[in-house]
Amino acid sequence: MATDPHPWAADLASLQEQVWARLLRGVGDRHAPARHPTLATVSPGGWPQARTVVLRAVDVAAGTFDIHTDLRSAKVAELRATPRAALHVWDKATHLQTRAKAVVEILTGAAVADLWARVPDAARQAYGSQPAPGVPLADALAYEKRPSAASFAVLRCTVQALDVVHLGLQHRRARFDRTDGWAGQWLAP
Ligand SMILES: Cc1cc2nc3c(=O)[nH]c(=O)nc-3n(C[C@H](O)[C@H](O)[C@H](O)COP(=O)(O)O)c2cc1C
Repeated sequence: MATDPHPWAADLASLQEQVWARLLRGVGDRHAPARHPTLATVSPGGWPQARTVVLRAVDVAAGTFDIHTDLRSAKVAELRATPRAALHVWDKATHLQTRAKAVVEILTGAAVADLWARVPDAARQAYGSQPAPGVPLADALAYEKRPSAASFAVLRCTVQALDVVHLGLQHRRARFDRTDGWAGQWLAP
């Protein structure tokens, strides 16, 4: 029988460790799959809303991750109404799908002043366009980039549960819940 290249997938604790390590890698490595996860929210009308984002921070011990966004974007309004999100990453090299359910806190102003000070100029361009994100334009480029700390928001996402699928030589699926101390439970894939 062929050797499994991902032995960590056979054990709940090492599988979970791998998931967080891969998320963390997304923060530091712009080529890592977790650099650009999909973040889904719920619209006030109950529609799922999914979009690509950049994973900006991960705190493994706290089980949190951060996304930076424009305070005036639709996702912020959606999160104000329903402070819940799902994050999705498909890591092709390791055959690993990660789905995280999180409750989201919207941090702004003084609470994120230190973070804003460390956002490079190029990245600041994403926060503060005029008119605001999602406003209809007469022409595709009829907007200006006006970086503004007032438009900068950090979505602090506290993971409540992880659903992990590993498509190795054998297929495995596990669920990890904050409520049971992240013990983990194998599921039928
Ligand atoms: C590669 C890539 C990275 C993106 N990163 C972010 C991000 O970190 N934060 C963000 O708010 N939007 C990001 N966007 C834009 C979003 O996908 C989305 O178009 C925008 O935030 C508006 O979404 P909303 O109307 O649902 O709020 C990114 C888009 C792409 C293609």
